[in-house]
Amino acid sequence: MAETEKTAKVLVEPEETHSARAALCGEPDPGPSAIIIFGASGDLTRRKLIPALYRLFKHSLLNSDFFVLGLARTEMDDAFFRQLIFTSLKESDDFDRDSFEAFSKRLFYRSIDYKNPATYEELSKFITDQEAAFNTGSNRLLYLATPPTLFESIIEGVGTTSISKKDYGWTRVVVEKPFGADLDSSRKLNVLLYRYFREDQIFRIDHYLGKETVQNIAMLRFANAIFEPLWNRRYVDHVQITVAETLGVGTRAGFYESAGVLRDMFQNHMLQVMALAAMEPPSSFESEQVRDEKVKLLRAIRPISPEDIGEHLVLGQYGEGIVEGETVPAYRDEPGVEEGSNTATYAAMRVFIDNWRWNGVPFYLRSGKRLARRATEVAIHFKKVPHMLFGVTLGTDIGPNVLVLAIQPDERVQLSFHTKSPGSKVCLRNVLMDFSYSEGFSGFMPGAYERVLLDAVVGDDMLFLRSDGVDQAWKILTPIIEAVESGAVPTRGYGAGSWGPPEADRLIGDNNRRWRNRLE
Ligand code: BG6
Repeated sequence: MAETEKTAKVLVEPEETHSARAALCGEPDPGPSAIIIFGASGDLTRRKLIPALYRLFKHSLLNSDFFVLGLARTEMDDAFFRQLIFTSLKESDDFDRDSFEAFSKRLFYRSIDYKNPATYEELSKFITDQEAAFNTGSNRLLYLATPPTLFESIIEGVGTTSISKKDYGWTRVVVEKPFGADLDSSRKLNVLLYRYFREDQIFRIDHYLGKETVQNIAMLRFANAIFEPLWNRRYVDHVQITVAETLGVGTRAGFYESAGVLRDMFQNHMLQVMALAAMEPPSSFESEQVRDEKVKLLRAIRPISPEDIGEHLVLGQYGEGIVEGETVPAYRDEPGVEEGSNTATYAAMRVFIDNWRWNGVPFYLRSGKRLARRATEVAIHFKKVPHMLFGVTLGTDIGPNVLVLAIQPDERVQLSFHTKSPGSKVCLRNVLMDFSYSEGFSGFMPGAYERVLLDAVVGDDMLFLRSDGVDQAWKILTPIIEAVESGAVPTRGYGAGSWGPPEADRLIGDNNRRWRNRLE
């Protein structure tokens, strides 16, 4: 019998210690800028945006001439806003008093009425005064972190006033996801943006693209000669892309009830990761070339017809259960969730790519909340050996080689392969070649929001979505969502703390394939 036990072996990698700027490969100074955040009283600003800006500041990655202006409806003054930020930052690993003091001097807050045009003229005056004080030269990054229902008012407000209409300096607008709720609404949002901004001023964010290990998918594929020859239907049996979360919906039911997992995770993060893993090599590692290839890949995804959607999609919603040792409530008992809600918090989807490289190779995508472990990964499952010459002694069931690009929380690249166990008997063992980011590199590792914020200030849009990319992703998802909303796919139950509904096992079960619940 072949042993299936795995032994982890860490490849010896030279330790590299990076300074922050070296970690970003000598990135140029982004230059002076004002960072203006709409939706500053929200969770995203407190938990992600300002902590990312603080970290960039602390590691001297922002130009010293900058300031941050938070805007929202809530009434509060600068001192109160700074205190809020202090409270959410003070427990973080990177926090230190002195750098926070210096940072908070550049932090301001104004309450605004998004729908009142007069607000924007007053705001424009305030921004101009701050620019003179901080010497930021009229370079403005406008970050839309509000609920999408406010985007229109804000775009009109900034688009028609001197906030964006000015004679010098750059203006860029960063739009948080979700970018529209379907194909039609995303197109309307694009039309509105184009009324005031050029495409090169619009930064549609998908923070997954800012994750180091997501970017590494392209590096691993195209900076090494050994993987690409195997990266196709001749050698790959199937690909699994998993984004498993332990968190539940939290306080976001208002948004999530109408989004569900398909709009929240599939239209953006899942398809983007898939595009990077499956696209053709771009002719150069430049924004337009990389984004062209991703869009081409999305265009090659075979549409799923409403008639056979049940064979390609399994949906689930978490019930009560135990996650990381704690009993957690069912989705339907979370605050703000409608009684009897059918919103899916889990989806598993089988996708085919109709092109020369991937013809016939299924891509299994799954994502869910309140699953057993937090784990995001791309797993390339190679084909089995064509002839099992050890069959007499070992049986025929030797698992295939699997290359795993583990994206979070434990960033690694692993390749499983078979080796002979020492001893007189013929015994195989499945072992791992395992490269860990945290063991291989120490020092500064930019988080996803640090990366994308810095790129937006620098003006590099490679990690942002182009309008045709968003359009294509909605073209894939909109008919699926419509079929789901017309009741074509039942929402199955699964216990919080499990790996999703058992029906998902049947989805992947052809050819004895199994989900890779590697941490189970
Ligand atoms: C967001 C989704 O885009 O991504 C959330 O709206 C999800 O529902 C989050 O929890 C996951 O991001 P991360 O970086 O924690 O994996």
